[in-house]
Amino acid sequence: MSRILLTGASGLLGINFGTQLANQHEIIGLVNQNNLNGVPFEVRQVDLTRPQAVERVIDQVKPDVVVHCAAMANVDLCETEPERAYLINADVPSQFSKITKDRSIQFVHISTDAVFDGVEGNYTEKDDPNPLGVYAQTKLTAEHYVMAENPQAIVARVNFYGWSISGRRSLSEFFFNHLSEKKRMMGFTDVYFCPLLVNDLVDILMEMIEKGLSGLYHTLSSECLTKYDFGLAIAEKFGLEQNLIDPVSVYESGLKAARSPNLTLSTEKLSSALGHALPDQAESLTRFYALYQQGLREKIQSFHQG
Ligand SMILES: NC(=O)c1ccc[n+]([C@@H]2O[C@H](COP(=O)([O-])OP(=O)(O)OC[C@H]3O[C@@H](n4cnc5c(N)ncnc54)[C@H](OP(=O)(O)O)[C@@H]3O)[C@@H](O)[C@H]2O)c1
Repeated sequence: MSRILLTGASGLLGINFGTQLANQHEIIGLVNQNNLNGVPFEVRQVDLTRPQAVERVIDQVKPDVVVHCAAMANVDLCETEPERAYLINADVPSQFSKITKDRSIQFVHISTDAVFDGVEGNYTEKDDPNPLGVYAQTKLTAEHYVMAENPQAIVARVNFYGWSISGRRSLSEFFFNHLSEKKRMMGFTDVYFCPLLVNDLVDILMEMIEKGLSGLYHTLSSECLTKYDFGLAIAEKFGLEQNLIDPVSVYESGLKAARSPNLTLSTEKLSSALGHALPDQAESLTRFYALYQQGLREKIQSFHQG
């Protein structure tokens, strides 16, 4: 059993991490603006961008491992508030990496597939990123800080889906909600990604920690697909109407923001380090549906402190 300091515990990744591992590890979850109701782990409220907040919380909690999921992950907000985005997305990870190195604490930093511009696709960890926009730039800056300041740290580039506290955080919930309400929606036929079920991501991150891995890893599904095909797969799995999803090119969609059309990333480095392949779409969707049937969606939403 490890004592794990989990930042971003109210976020999509954090809440699933804490909920899933609370009976195997001692989890101390940090939230900022959204407190949690009835979660199976200890929760503390800390604005990590406050001076000395990172050092103070590490000194108080004395963790074996820090899993850093907190971020400003809203791309539009990052564009309008770039200084605040830099503070939480780059400066805070830098503080964590220095302090965890000094105190020999294992550090896991969560990054993003969006460090790439999506022009070529099939990226490996050796390919040069080219972030589009403030969010991706701040996340790439964090990767550089963490790897320079704490070479023992894990930097996991992710993209994931699952059940969130708000019920609206993930692309899977977008499709599920619209389809359940019989609303029409667009599905992009030319935007490729490799989303991993957040609960599979939690298991894999723990496996990486337990194996003592360090360095940069693409921590995604082994199978990439278009957003349209992802929507169809959700519809099929939940027995919902596939015809409600209109196949649309992102270029014809009227979306102004820069999109990254081909965010396919190779997971070969991680699968050889772990000695097994990462889950494919069918495996993850089967688990996603099973967790739904077991009531995980309601359980996660019940943690919302209204
Ligand atoms: N979702 C995806 O598919 C995706 C894709 C690529 C990468 N990522 C990365 O994965 C990580 C987790 O993402 P997510 O989707 O789980 O995030 P999320 O749902 O947007 O949650 C963000 C979390 O960060 C916390 N936070 C924000 N500002 C903070 C501050 N100043 N001090 C302390 N905590 C703060 C929030 O706390 P409060 O809500 O309590 O304020 C919340 O718990 C992030 O690093 C993100 O960049 C996510």
